[in-house]
Amino acid sequence: MTLLDYLANHIATSKEIQLNCDLTARQASSRLKKLGDQIITIPNGRSPKYALATNAFGAGNNITIWEVDSFGKPLAIASLRPLAAGGFFVEPFTFNLGMPKVFLGEAGNGLYDDLPYFLFDMAPKGFLGKKIAQNMAEVDERYPRHLNDWKTEHIGRYLLANTENSIGNLKFGNNANLKLRPTVTKHSRSDYLTIADDIIHSDSALSSAGGEQQKFTTFCTDINAHVIVKFSPKGDDANARRWKDVLITEHYANEVINKTEIITAAETTLLEDGGRLFLESVRFDRQGEQGKRSMLSLSVIDAEFVGSGDSWVKLAKNLYQQDLLSAHDQHSVMHLANFAQLINNTDTHLGNISFKTHLDGFSLLPIYDMCSMGFAPKSNGEVTPFSFSTPDIDAPSSLDITPYVNQFWQAIIDEPKTSDEFKTFIKSSKLDSPG
Ligand SMILES: Nc1ncnc2c1ncn2[C@@H]1O[C@H](COP(=O)(O)OP(=O)(O)OP(=O)(O)O)[C@@H](O)[C@H]1O
Ligand SMILES: [Mg+2]
Repeated sequence: MTLLDYLANHIATSKEIQLNCDLTARQASSRLKKLGDQIITIPNGRSPKYALATNAFGAGNNITIWEVDSFGKPLAIASLRPLAAGGFFVEPFTFNLGMPKVFLGEAGNGLYDDLPYFLFDMAPKGFLGKKIAQNMAEVDERYPRHLNDWKTEHIGRYLLANTENSIGNLKFGNNANLKLRPTVTKHSRSDYLTIADDIIHSDSALSSAGGEQQKFTTFCTDINAHVIVKFSPKGDDANARRWKDVLITEHYANEVINKTEIITAAETTLLEDGGRLFLESVRFDRQGEQGKRSMLSLSVIDAEFVGSGDSWVKLAKNLYQQDLLSAHDQHSVMHLANFAQLINNTDTHLGNISFKTHLDGFSLLPIYDMCSMGFAPKSNGEVTPFSFSTPDIDAPSSLDITPYVNQFWQAIIDEPKTSDEFKTFIKSSKLDSPG
């Protein structure tokens, strides 16, 4: 078999190449050399493996990955090398020691079966992702209308053209640095109502931020910051009232968490306009107009480094044991999980907690989407009566979170925008002052 035929399907050591292509060691080495940049050398103890690069996403066989700093300056950190035998190799730039070690993946050698987890996390998701899939299907017939049907090919091509709004601080593509100061879409708070109405009535999408609730992203000129804005339905019917209550819980959960000075949450503001309630959350993966910061969800970190789909607490413990997370952050995750349990946050999935790359591992980012989701209307729109009683905590932690939880319920009672039925429920079930 020729060397090219063999490497089209295999990632192999020199020995394996010699055996399968009937070559001496010297012949194998000289033929590999002749193929130049098409051959990728993958660290593998004393006998490196060789792989043949292939073209992907219409962008060649060597695609640059950039990290954008807090001033907006892109720094090339690695190349993504698509492999003929399948999968990808992340090749750090040797002249730059800036690539986080965790980008080499669980095996530590940069080899991935599919798109690396940190790029995968930048793909469209949730409410806005669905709209993006529809828009993409309209501009390019190769794109499926439904996000669930997107394959690696679709994600790769999408990211080459659209990393400006992705979560986190990465860019993808050989010319991604050539975009001169990307234009930032800006709005004032007084525009929020029009944007929300537009989103509900049309197919416009302003970003790929994930999550199933209706939302948009923009740069808010009132506070000069990038924001994610969730909004309630209009009006005062049971469904709208309940969604407003849920947004209120998210705001006060953040406020109370930030009071602990141990764990942190996104900074949020509640705004009312035209019968809608808006929850504006300052993006912590952005800095000023152009700057970006690292952000990776536990969902992709789990997929790469653990693969169990377990709870926040179990995964944090596992990452700590692997030396990928500090003891402090592991405890913080436990405090957050406890707080979630005590406020009826039934939505602690792995997309709802994120980390940044830090030293040779990860560190916890402020929490977001921490709300009493258990009270939200069901997916068919049905609004069930309030019902919740304080559960026993699954995994007690070193911080007594109860006083903060009491403050949370009290703040909701004190908030004039909270519905009367929610206030009555909290008071009658004594959530604000248990025992
Ligand atoms: N303040 C923030 N800074 C940076 N990113 C954020 C912030 N708030 C939310 N995000 C990102 O936006 C995504 C969607 O936000 P969020 O989880 O609040 O929405 P959701 O629709 O309630 O999600 P879900 O589907 O879990 O209910 C999050 O998964 C996270 O990646
Ligand atoms: Mg969410």
